[in-house]
Amino acid sequence: MKLTNKNITIIGAGNLGLSITKGLLKSGLLHQNKLTITRRKLDELEPFAEKGITITSNNKEAVQHADIVLFAVQPQQLSGIINEVNEVLTGKLIISTLTGVKLKVLQKHVGSNNRVVRAMPNTALAVQQSMTCISTNASKEDTELVQSIFSVLGKTIVIEDELMQAATVLGASGIAFWLRLIRATTQGGIQLGFDAPEAQKIAIQTCMGAASLLQNGSNAHPESEIDKVTTPKGCTISGLNEMEHKGMSSALIQGLVTSFKKINEL
Ligand SMILES: NC(=O)c1ccc[n+]([C@@H]2O[C@H](COP(=O)([O-])OP(=O)(O)OC[C@H]3O[C@@H](n4cnc5c(N)ncnc54)[C@H](OP(=O)(O)O)[C@@H]3O)[C@@H](O)[C@H]2O)c1
Repeated sequence: MKLTNKNITIIGAGNLGLSITKGLLKSGLLHQNKLTITRRKLDELEPFAEKGITITSNNKEAVQHADIVLFAVQPQQLSGIINEVNEVLTGKLIISTLTGVKLKVLQKHVGSNNRVVRAMPNTALAVQQSMTCISTNASKEDTELVQSIFSVLGKTIVIEDELMQAATVLGASGIAFWLRLIRATTQGGIQLGFDAPEAQKIAIQTCMGAASLLQNGSNAHPESEIDKVTTPKGCTISGLNEMEHKGMSSALIQGLVTSFKKINEL
């Protein structure tokens, strides 16, 4: 569905809200739609006002004029803000990025008549490379509308709401996991003789190349691409096996499971 002539409001322009804002600015979607962003400390938003975005601390006014309202505040801030904007929320398409707040709970907060979609993106929104998982009870039309926002900011997938905690770990926290892997390989490169910027450049592009082989290549399984670079008795297989002896795959899986346990305790 094409997104045109809509007023979009983001309540809570912090890390995530601003990543969405930056991605939308880059996407060109704001040529046909209007964006309002809110937070209490407005001075942090001043640079965005210069780019044609409405900035305000008045959540009620921002929601009143909106067709689509995206909540990107911390979960504990939600009920206070809902109380603040409740009387002007009716009829809006509501999107929540709040970690751990299930669709059923959201629906209770905003009222059963309102249309609610849950979205779990990551901060690569800012560079239009997010993986955004979406769960919803809303109509196909509303779901497509939400997908049309997030698909200009990366890729989208619609999943069951029960899988949203797992999606948060794999996709949203996943950004930190992959960044740490890039950092670690960069440090290894420095030990092998590169200066830091060179090592980081090589690590980043190699990481992107590996992902692109799976995303754009003909063969979708990582192991068959690994087979192509591991000569028998060679240096790659020696290094790879040493990493596995030290528990690389196991550490990653255990880390994901630990994050998942933690998120379920929150
Ligand atoms: N960061 C991620 O990678 C990520 C990924 C997926 C989902 N999420 C979820 O997305 C939500 C936002 O995460 P975040 O990392 O962006 O958090 P954050 O940086 O703390 O942003 C929340 C923003 O809400 C604003 N805020 C607080 N009270 C407000 C109010 N009454 N009215 C308007 N704005 C208000 C805060 O600014 P002021 O203090 O100036 O008001 C703050 O900038 C969280 O629920 C998080 O679980 C985050």
